[in-house]
Amino acid sequence: MGLFITFEGPEGSGKTTQTVLLSEALVRQGHTPVCTREPGGTRIGEQIRTVLHDPANRELVSEAEILLYSADRAQHVAQVIRPALERGKVVISDRFAESTFAYQGYGRGLDLTTLTNITNVATGGLRPDLVIYLDIDINIGLGRRRKDHAEGKGEWNRMDDQSLAFYRRVRDGYLAMASQDPARWLVIDGVLPVQDIHRDIMARVQSLLTS
Ligand code: TMP
Repeated sequence: MGLFITFEGPEGSGKTTQTVLLSEALVRQGHTPVCTREPGGTRIGEQIRTVLHDPANRELVSEAEILLYSADRAQHVAQVIRPALERGKVVISDRFAESTFAYQGYGRGLDLTTLTNITNVATGGLRPDLVIYLDIDINIGLGRRRKDHAEGKGEWNRMDDQSLAFYRRVRDGYLAMASQDPARWLVIDGVLPVQDIHRDIMARVQSLLTS
């Protein structure tokens, strides 16, 4: 089996930048990492992403939202993640099931046991070997997101239109999950310089690759 690494973090935490840096560093070491993302990552997943992110879909209920994220994940695990891990690859995913627990569980208040059951259907029990969480103050993250969007660098989606209280619950949820499972989580302060964050990530990934 390969190594399954996921990136998590609120909007504007810099996880996409770090995903690219990690992947490039692994390529320099001779690996051929598979980089992917949720929602999306498959042809069908990209169609589901369009529904989930369309700001016009305001009437989407939380139960439909969780099922759509999970449908995307089921397709992603079956078509991309599991086959790559079976070929011994390092798989790097920009978001995975921990996003569902943070946003739909802690953020929307859906029952965590129900979410665990739905997630297990989608993943068949597959869990990341390492969850890298880039932690950042909500206002800083949203400010970066707005700036990127204004400069035409990032999309502004339905999930970006939530209240500050929602984002606060999401962040608290991430920190709660990380503190419950420190062996599997790496929490990094997202305001540190990009190269410092990358160095901390590489140190942890390297130890997993050699263990
Ligand atoms: P991103 O592609 O900019 O990271 O945006 C993905 C959005 O979707 C982000 O707001 C988090 C949200 N999301 C959930 O709410 N639940 C999930 O399970 C996943 C994968 C993402």
